[in-house]
Amino acid sequence: MPVPIIVASGNGAPGLPVGIRILARGGSALDAVEACAKVIEADPTDTSVGRGGRPNVLGEVELDASIVDGTTHRTGAVAALQGYLHPISVARAVMERGPHVMLVGEGAARFAKEIGASKAQNLTAATRKLWVERLRAAGETPASIRRRSKLLPIVLNTVREHFGTVNFLALDRKGHLASAVTTSGWAYKYPGRVGDSPIVGAGNYCDTRYGAAACTGYGELAIRNLSAKTAVDRLAAGMRADEVAHSTIADANALEDAAFNVVVLTTKGEHASATNREGRQYAWMTTEMKEAATAPRALVPRGPR
Ligand code: GLY
Repeated sequence: MPVPIIVASGNGAPGLPVGIRILARGGSALDAVEACAKVIEADPTDTSVGRGGRPNVLGEVELDASIVDGTTHRTGAVAALQGYLHPISVARAVMERGPHVMLVGEGAARFAKEIGASKAQNLTAATRKLWVERLRAAGETPASIRRRSKLLPIVLNTVREHFGTVNFLALDRKGHLASAVTTSGWAYKYPGRVGDSPIVGAGNYCDTRYGAAACTGYGELAIRNLSAKTAVDRLAAGMRADEVAHSTIADANALEDAAFNVVVLTTKGEHASATNREGRQYAWMTTEMKEAATAPRALVPRGPR
């Protein structure tokens, strides 16, 4: 029987004890990853996730999230959701309460209201200030940007800045895997932009038979490579977790020079992580640990082209 474990992106460390308490009392991987994600979503100091996440170019916080049950392959996702505190729980409700897999924008908000999800003002004073500073650097103000008919020139000037996102991959006492990813996405993005986090197979995937993987960084690369599903397929083919993490970053590097990170967890609780940027960490905690551990992600630089 494996020791229950949760693996996360480095910014997920504060959420791990909550999930580990669930696993320690025999709870499910699915409950654990949702609980972990909610901790980070509610933390206004993480400017890449949930409340306090950076807004789109119009100052609206649009949240993406997905959850995967590795045993049943049930999944739920929301994208460009505005005005709710816990997109991960809305994603789980999409999975469990409706006939669909993904809801976006106004439809996602309507669904969140219908199920009684907690509302929130996700643009904080701090992230509003960052947004206004970003606009000022582009010669704009909140009033002027809202009058603009063309946003593309402004968005093109914000390229590849501040991605963030948080991942959680959990293995429970029964050997079941689940994964959750939640994010405010690319800071100052074009309204309606959807990243990899809610795209199952791109930013998030798990299969109780083989393992789990999730991505952070420039989500367009994960969508183009279907990174998380490809990583799990490589586990299924017998590659080690560290080899899978390395190859996932190498795939991203083959496309473009943009920040990209992955975490990988096997059915035995082995884990690994890799990145193409210096100084990135990942985190994990088992039911035998008193606190979360962190370690540097293995660096896979892009190299000269
Ligand atoms: N990886 C998060 C995003 O690109 O939205």
